[in-house]
Amino acid sequence: MCGIVGYIGKRDVAPLLLEGLARLEYRGYDSAGIALHASGTGKSAGLKTAKAKGRVRELEARLPKRFAGTTGIAHTRWATHGAPTDDNAHPHLDAEGKIAVVHNGIIDNAAELRARLTADGVVFASETDTEVLAHLIGRSPAETLEEKVREALRHIEGTYGIAVLHSDFTDRIVVARNGSPVVLGIGEHEMFVSSDVAALVSHTRQVVTLDDGEMATLKADDYRTYTTEGSRTTATPETVEYAAESYDLGGHDTYMHKEISEQADAVDRALRGRIDDRFSTVHLGGLNLDAREARTIRRVKILGCGTSYHAGQIGAQMIEELARIPSDAEPASEFRYRDPVVDPDTLYVAVSQSGETYDVLAAVQELKRKGARVLGLVNVVGSAIARETDGGIYVHAGPEVCVVSTKCFTNMVVSFALLALHLGRIRDLSVADGKRIIEGLRKLPGQIDEILKGEEEIKKLSAAYADAKSMMFIGRVRGYPVAREASLKLKEVSYIHAEAYPASELKHGPLALIEPAMPTVAIVPDDDLLEKNRAALEEIKARSGRILAVAHQDQEKADDTIIVPKNEPELDPILMGIPLQLLAYHTALALGRDIDKPRNLAKSVTVE
Ligand code: F6R
Repeated sequence: MCGIVGYIGKRDVAPLLLEGLARLEYRGYDSAGIALHASGTGKSAGLKTAKAKGRVRELEARLPKRFAGTTGIAHTRWATHGAPTDDNAHPHLDAEGKIAVVHNGIIDNAAELRARLTADGVVFASETDTEVLAHLIGRSPAETLEEKVREALRHIEGTYGIAVLHSDFTDRIVVARNGSPVVLGIGEHEMFVSSDVAALVSHTRQVVTLDDGEMATLKADDYRTYTTEGSRTTATPETVEYAAESYDLGGHDTYMHKEISEQADAVDRALRGRIDDRFSTVHLGGLNLDAREARTIRRVKILGCGTSYHAGQIGAQMIEELARIPSDAEPASEFRYRDPVVDPDTLYVAVSQSGETYDVLAAVQELKRKGARVLGLVNVVGSAIARETDGGIYVHAGPEVCVVSTKCFTNMVVSFALLALHLGRIRDLSVADGKRIIEGLRKLPGQIDEILKGEEEIKKLSAAYADAKSMMFIGRVRGYPVAREASLKLKEVSYIHAEAYPASELKHGPLALIEPAMPTVAIVPDDDLLEKNRAALEEIKARSGRILAVAHQDQEKADDTIIVPKNEPELDPILMGIPLQLLAYHTALALGRDIDKPRNLAKSVTVE
């Protein structure tokens, strides 16, 4: 949420920053801005800013004619404090216009600091929390920029990833991190900073990820890192796993379409090198959980938000079925606020694409503080949640740029299947069942390709259902989280209202909604609940409801059926969700929605 990017070197900085912002736009897209040290002498020199409400392209159109320099910082915003306006767009300046700050995160005590500064005569130019920081840095009597920033940060409660310019220190950018990601990009006679590697990889794959409580000074030819208390830290650059092309559209019109289409390869990557045919199990090297410890687990609790929470719900069922350990999933945002009983025999699993989601991170930190064992099931390597957990599984979906999650959801569920198999084989899952699940996992990439080949059919169905004002999604047991995820996908990308219910719950209330104008999407796998699911279809049909079924065979009671290939029953949820991602995509396309950047949303929710 919110993206920051900065550059210091020899190149013309404005185009570089605009390119970086475009790459980070998925983190927030309601306003954007740039500050740079303008080259030249006299009036044309000094700190210059340009800001605009709206997308990065609007900022680009608004850049002044003379806006050149070789050092600058930039920001793309998802509004928290203050509406999306030109004034509230970052960078924010101090009273003298000597300091520019871009910030990702939330300053919790901003109101109190603002009141104190206002009483001291400071006039604010925006409604943001960030401007407080610019004034605090500007008013610091310290000698160096590093000390000024450090001193200002002592007053701040909350989270931040910041980058700061000062017109008296044109040879440097000072950055700091607490709770919001900051990554340095190490180039040849040039340095970059960003909220994530997406903005860096086209220039350098050598990166340093700051820890919470760390700061850095970037100069064109070197960088140093230190704590907010001033002690030096060691930073060894790491190489980013994915090349710049992985962050491009690759010939697709939208990232959502690209990412849906990549799922067979993504699943293949999640499986690669992990299957152990000899013992009909899987190797999960990063788990840090030996067999003896695994046998002592009495419960598994999975925590995540949104789509990742839905993946966790499927994961909990898989673990319960295959490893016979009581398991459940809960939204991390609820868990951390209800004073949960933290049990030493419970294995906690935090699931997150970005590895940054604040609610999940805070739940992990609270659990760790109480001595719990927490694993991470995370996509972004080296992210905060991956680093805070005791071990875990990288889901290897590759970069996911579309704000709505698709391929990462699928890879999370596959990774949960691996965890369930691993725990199961340590406990009581037989060799034969282990083998059966492995064979099922191996079939997945081919079956995903088969589903994706049916895209034209799904596109036609989407056009037929796109006029619905509201849709119902139902499923039973394994199918219920699939229905929930499909309903979330449809509403966030097409803005059609959707409800998800267990099929068995229909007659306890929601059946009242059923009428011809409210179609139902039903998950109807060919498992031991088939007849029960068919009964639900009958109930809907008897009320003149329109039905689109996702099933392994044609459903007589449904108006339309999308047929998916059959796998092992435990793995069916992985496949049944995929056509419904395409349904959401094509519905949104038919309705002319901004597919990669739905209204009011942003990827990586780093605020509460
Ligand atoms: C929906 C979506 C969100 C995220 C949620 C958690 O398509 O993407 O619901 O799943 O914000 O994000 P991560 O997985 O990054 O923790």
